[in-house]
Amino acid sequence: MLRSRIVSTGSYVPENVITNHDLEKIVDTSDEWIMERTGIKERRIVNGLQAASDLAFEASTLALKRAHIKAKDIDLIIVATCTPDMAFPSTACILQNKLEAKNAAAMDLSAACSGFIYGLHVANGMIKSELHKRILLVGTEVLSKFVDWQDRTTCVLFGDGAGAVVLEGTREKRGIYSTHIYSDGNLSELISLPGPGSRNPCSRDSILKKMNFIKMKGNETFRVAVRTLEEVAVKTLEANNLEPSRLSLLIPHQANIRIIQATAKRLNLPMEKVFVNIDKYGNTSAASIPIALDEALQSGKIKDGDYILLEAFGGGLTWASSLLRW
Ligand code: UT7
Repeated sequence: MLRSRIVSTGSYVPENVITNHDLEKIVDTSDEWIMERTGIKERRIVNGLQAASDLAFEASTLALKRAHIKAKDIDLIIVATCTPDMAFPSTACILQNKLEAKNAAAMDLSAACSGFIYGLHVANGMIKSELHKRILLVGTEVLSKFVDWQDRTTCVLFGDGAGAVVLEGTREKRGIYSTHIYSDGNLSELISLPGPGSRNPCSRDSILKKMNFIKMKGNETFRVAVRTLEEVAVKTLEANNLEPSRLSLLIPHQANIRIIQATAKRLNLPMEKVFVNIDKYGNTSAASIPIALDEALQSGKIKDGDYILLEAFGGGLTWASSLLRW
């Protein structure tokens, strides 16, 4: 049976650290409130010049190096992002050019914070159907350029970063065992970035209405996130006939420590089996899972044969999960 497998990972976060104490100086907030409600201590923010493709390039270069392959050996690049360099060309095409991945088709995928697992779903299908052999999948975000730094309800939550993986086919009993993706466009107003776009083109009025900044109804989003992530985690394990106790690691989207703890509790997983780095990076949307996966691997938390559950939730609304065997 042909499966797809992540053969290498890479990640990159900008050097510039913004702590909760830094934020206390610009909005009416406190380190205590942010830590207690979200688990975030600090986040990384790009310098003014860096865009999503620059972060993606760093993460991808590392993933390619670790896979011992050249960029020209990649035949498809998928970039999951909700903060692309520009509307078009796609960030994937810009990345293809930077990497000199001359033999790769390239496209962006928009599923907000679930983008990486959506990308995994697409890449898995492409490899299993033998349409593509070697895929570079990247989650990259520069959210700091789309948050209103005067809005304490959102500016404390997000950070910038990128994570990349290289996928290939395998006939071994490892790799991606399943992927599950879901959407509910009826709840699209819970998290959005309304402009500029064809609905709200860039104008004096759209700028005055701050449409170029992320809007989120945090508390309602929180409740839907807890419910859907618990459900999707249980469904994914059931689809693979796997007891939660057989999981070696849960790698959840890093949006809020309380959401992560709720899923762990539902699965009866001790927190030692849950990868958490939200304290360092905040919510990096589509980049959060590949960054976490890379850090888990580099720190020796993943061994051959381990079952790993990935899950994410985000704007759209979208949510998604995947079971991997390493
Ligand atoms: O990645 C995509 C998916 N995103 C998520 O899943 C995020 C889901 N939502 C959340 O993580 C949480 O809802 C937040 C962290 C955004 C907010 O936490 P909460 O416990 O839901 O707080 P809340 O929105 O109910 O606000 C409670 C209070 C409010 O004050 P009042 O009205 O009770 O006086 C807010 O104005 O906290 C206030 N508040 C703050 N106070 C200090 C909101 N933001 C801040 C802040 N500092 N940064």
